Amino acid sequence: MDHDVVVVGSVNADLVLEVPRHLHPGETLLGRDASVLPGGKGANQAVAAARLGADVAMVGAVGTDPNADVALAELRRAGVDLAAVRRVEGPTGLAVVTLADDGENSIIVIPGANSTTDVAAVEAAASTIAGAAVCVLQAEIPLDAVGRAAHLAHEAGRRVVLNVAPACRLPLDVLRLADPLVVNEHEAAILLGADPGTAVPAEQTVRELAELGVGSVVLTLGAAGVVGLDATGTWSLPARPVTPRDTTGAGDAFVGALAVGLAQGDPARDAALLATRVAAASVQRLGAQLSYPWKDDPLP
Ligand code: RIB
Repeated sequence: MDHDVVVVGSVNADLVLEVPRHLHPGETLLGRDASVLPGGKGANQAVAAARLGADVAMVGAVGTDPNADVALAELRRAGVDLAAVRRVEGPTGLAVVTLADDGENSIIVIPGANSTTDVAAVEAAASTIAGAAVCVLQAEIPLDAVGRAAHLAHEAGRRVVLNVAPACRLPLDVLRLADPLVVNEHEAAILLGADPGTAVPAEQTVRELAELGVGSVVLTLGAAGVVGLDATGTWSLPARPVTPRDTTGAGDAFVGALAVGLAQGDPARDAALLATRVAAASVQRLGAQLSYPWKDDPLP
């Protein structure tokens, strides 16, 4: 196997704006601080996995602007193989992250170079995708490219971890390659065609997701923990009790760590236990990638 994990997805620079509270429409608000940090759901997941000691490759793209170097810095530092990250004319993906005092964030993503990670780009990276034990996918690149990557990995007999974030609808033939499908409650509701505002018991949600024909399901519930469903049945794990400073990228830390556990052959529940601890560590510091623990760091 060439790599433990390949991540096919977005690479962003995050413009993080620290504000006392979230804006109301039409309002001007004085913020406290601004920083440009490495981000992107795909790159975050790759860094999370690599910092835990996995051998990781990234498939994606950055632009020709100065943000490209910011976006690649932590991938490089964590030793991620970047041979399949293209540099394309134009801007790097940019996320504007508004972080309020309560630790909650809201994010606007301008895809930039990520929109060139299309079906052709994925096919050009086919050998990298087929050469990793676990292929990790999200939804911040064109969705037909997500589908093509899932099929390439599956045809090569590899495990597909499909994190449908941000929330979107994916075709059933793609969802059915997921083992596991990883979503939060909002993303699950969108996938199921339900109203995201309606409270549904987590066990019912994982059952309905499993009925779509996916290999297994991991439903993340934030401070309420995780519920999973696989061949062993339904299981749940509590979240680790920590005080959040910044939740940006916590879901990505979870997915990256989950992929590491699965790549080393752990059962999904054990991999999810590691992932909850890594995600808990990540919310205690500012930023996404910069907040992720390294292999020998103590975990909550
Ligand atoms: O999941 C967090 C990430 O979403 C941020 O790093 C931002 O880049 C957006 O992609």
